[in-house]
Amino acid sequence: MRWGNSFKKLAILAAVVVFALYHWSRTILPLSSISINQFFDPVIDNLVHAPSLKDTYIIKAKQFGINDDHDFLRLYLSSCLLVPDSTKEELTLKHKNYVKYLFSSENTVDAYAPVRKGTKAWNDYKGKNGIVYIGGGKYSWISFLSIVQLRKTGSKTPVEVFIPSIEEYDQKFCEEILPQYNARCLVFKDPFLGKRRLQLTGYQYKMLALLMSSYENTMYVDSDVNPLHNPDFLFTSELYRKNGLLLWPDHWARTTSPDFYDIVGIDVREKKVRHSNKDLKKDPVPPLSEGTFQNSDFHDFENTIPNPTVEAGVLLVNKSTHVRTLQLALYYNVLGPDFYYPLLTQGGAGEGDKDTFNAAAHVLDEPYHLCAKQFRWIGYHNKDKDAFDAKGLGIHDPVGALADEENAKVLFIHCSYPKYFPGTVAPELAYSTGEHIRMYDNVNENVGYDVDLRLMENFAKYFCKNYKAAGVQSKYEETWAGTFLPYVKEEYTQFEATCEELFLPHLEWLRKETKYRNTNKHGSL
Ligand SMILES: *[C@@H]1O[C@H](CO)[C@@H](O)[C@H](O)[C@H]1NC(C)=O
Repeated sequence: MRWGNSFKKLAILAAVVVFALYHWSRTILPLSSISINQFFDPVIDNLVHAPSLKDTYIIKAKQFGINDDHDFLRLYLSSCLLVPDSTKEELTLKHKNYVKYLFSSENTVDAYAPVRKGTKAWNDYKGKNGIVYIGGGKYSWISFLSIVQLRKTGSKTPVEVFIPSIEEYDQKFCEEILPQYNARCLVFKDPFLGKRRLQLTGYQYKMLALLMSSYENTMYVDSDVNPLHNPDFLFTSELYRKNGLLLWPDHWARTTSPDFYDIVGIDVREKKVRHSNKDLKKDPVPPLSEGTFQNSDFHDFENTIPNPTVEAGVLLVNKSTHVRTLQLALYYNVLGPDFYYPLLTQGGAGEGDKDTFNAAAHVLDEPYHLCAKQFRWIGYHNKDKDAFDAKGLGIHDPVGALADEENAKVLFIHCSYPKYFPGTVAPELAYSTGEHIRMYDNVNENVGYDVDLRLMENFAKYFCKNYKAAGVQSKYEETWAGTFLPYVKEEYTQFEATCEELFLPHLEWLRKETKYRNTNKHGSL
């Protein structure tokens, strides 16, 4: 009897414990995962209400390449955009408040991700590597092409495709096709953010995609960027472990307003610490001690963000070490179109989000590495113009570039002009005489295979119903992307004839004429 009683008590106790644990897990755990509004509310608290600076330039900053013979002097950069005193005051105050918040105990986030330490979600996130793209509508199509190409390079890194709104969710694409490529969709169900119901667009999606990605180590890849070799090694590279943020240089010289430095509380003194490319071409090279604001590029002075600007088509970031950098980049991007894009670029080349990441890291004094090798223009000699025609940007392997800048491999191609939409790519493939064009002619030797052939193979396989693999009779139903992407189905009605008359014959021509017979087998570095 005594044992029976104890057993009953034990059983009741066990039931209470189980119930309590269950209750705790239901109530406590969900509370400890955090809402993405915790990232947006502090931004909203520090929005700036002064009139927008967008398109208020006195003159748009000139566009000079980093190797052009030109210095941007302080006086010039101060006279492109006039920032009214009251606007500058408000920007300064709000920026200071926000940075203060970032370092205060109120900022309780553990990473630039809606997960909290000590939860299951955290364990899933911690130490994971992955790649994120932005999809939705026509961007799902080019993201898909890049993912196909990624897998051809041998990459095993998982992928997420950020879909900005539920209306752009293509079920078959997300649930059947992507999983075959170790990829999945991240659907953004409520695009209204924080207590002010902010709605982001365009460039700002990048910050959201980075925030929502499930990986501590997230590589962001623009949908019009194609990897040419397997990029997986970057995640484990010493270079990345040491810096936690890898960025790539743009072609353009920096045109940031001196007012930007005042606003973010950085004192730029007249002490020259670097030579510009123009200096280095002089003989003798003028000593740094002779540098003044009147004779030297403003961004060669102490505490400025060094040249060149950043090409943010690809970046790799540790969302834990760089949580504050990303929070500040979020701030610069939410306030970007009205204030920070004009301040950082002043209407110069490629105004947008591209310089917000290094600006944020610079302001917070957190490390980042900018690939040591400039990007290269990829293109061909256009016979009609008798001139080089640039069709894409080559983004180099930053590890190789440190060891041997001269021979660094091109790791990604940013297919900016044209992107692989049928309407934009079609006019680029042949001269008016009908003669075919190999668009990326000047990069194949570096890459080791035929980039035109590879990318056209990917494009035609999924866009043209009558695509046939080389030497094989294949059935179109297997690959045509019109069965899972409404965008492709729609476009195909317009471009069916272009498939027969141009895309497929062009592919045949590339196959026949290529110097790189093994093109479809290559990829890994
Ligand atoms: C990313 O940062 C976290 C936090 O500092 C660190 O524990 C982790 O090792 C870092 N990951 C890599 C790949 O460096």
